[in-house]
Amino acid sequence: MAKFDLVIAIDGTAASGKGTISKKIAHNYSVPHLDTGLLYRFVGYKVLKGFDPVSAVDQLSMSEMEALDLKTLKVSNAASEVAKNPLVRAKLLEFQRSFASQPGGAVLDGRDIGTVICPNANIKFFISASAEIRARRRYKELLGLGHSISLNKVLKDIQERDERDTNRKDSPLVPAVDAKKIDTSDMTIAEVYASVSRVIESELKK
Ligand code: C5P
Repeated sequence: MAKFDLVIAIDGTAASGKGTISKKIAHNYSVPHLDTGLLYRFVGYKVLKGFDPVSAVDQLSMSEMEALDLKTLKVSNAASEVAKNPLVRAKLLEFQRSFASQPGGAVLDGRDIGTVICPNANIKFFISASAEIRARRRYKELLGLGHSISLNKVLKDIQERDERDTNRKDSPLVPAVDAKKIDTSDMTIAEVYASVSRVIESELKK
């Protein structure tokens, strides 16, 4: 555990590996982790069930969120649609900020953590990889979860979400100016983790 509140913001493109790295950091540095994509997935899921996006935020429940299958392409797409809605983003902001302000700190991963949610985070990373490589990774993950899907469909979903996330007006996907950028296209998870932990270790020594 760090001697001060250690807030780490990890942003990046879909299926870039940011979730895996965030979980590993949370585990090794004993800080809680929030996958903020799940919040948007939960709202997208509820919208698919017929709820209004803003009222869907009021139904947010961590236990329901964990119980639902939110990793499908249908939900990914619905999530990136609701993520364009400024009212949804505004309502989710306080929840994310209060998670980040826990004593001891936290790791949050998403699209706007370093830019909007935690602009004062101690450390910021921006994780990316080529769309083809990310599609192959997500494809394997979805097959492992028992989904039947084609690689092409996964690639198309990732490209469409990149486009939507990057070009929306409110909180677009952009690296914070002070984020350390890592392109994981040709790196293993162990190599990415070694790179991020070097940055964290040097911050902890300050
Ligand atoms: O990270 P994940 O792929 O689960 O996120 C699903 C969608 O939620 C993203 O495509 C993006 O549109 C939205 N999102 C966001 N801001 C965040 C996290 C996710 O807009 N901080």
